[in-house]
Amino acid sequence: MKKKIGFATVMLLVALSILSTRFYEVSLPVWHLLGGGNGPDPATLHLRGEFVESNLGAAQDREGFLTVRMIAQQYVFVPQCIIVPAGVPIRFRITSADAVHMLSFLGTDYGLKAVPGTVTEARFTFSKTGEFKIPCHEFCGAGHYAMRGQLDVVPQDQFSSLRPGERRTCGPG
Ligand code: CUA
Repeated sequence: MKKKIGFATVMLLVALSILSTRFYEVSLPVWHLLGGGNGPDPATLHLRGEFVESNLGAAQDREGFLTVRMIAQQYVFVPQCIIVPAGVPIRFRITSADAVHMLSFLGTDYGLKAVPGTVTEARFTFSKTGEFKIPCHEFCGAGHYAMRGQLDVVPQDQFSSLRPGERRTCGPG
């Protein structure tokens, strides 16, 4: 009898550990189904909604703002390069497809946290033209130290002459 209880306890513990692992794996979608997140679902970012690939980068939106939409994911920023005009307020909207990342514009005081299931929004004005590296400043996994994008700030007339596709092609830097 004692042996039987021991076996049952072990099986129960195994079952519990499997269940808790499963729960951990699916916790994010479940959280979304329960309405815990009002932001985009990290699992379908690329497929639908605001953060589909064609909508990323700098674009003039209906409210008249120049808006940059980005995704941070292990271990890149998408798009890898953004070009914006100098001296104009720019609205950034960023989310993450996986872990928490921190986009920081080197040489400025600006930074943006990218959190899965949430859109982080901020408005920055870059007064100086130039090329700014944007490394990730939040440890996000094995590739963290190589995770970086680039921001090119160009004069307004130069920006106006760029076609939408060209706003994602940075110069060498
Ligand atoms: Cu992304 Cu560190």
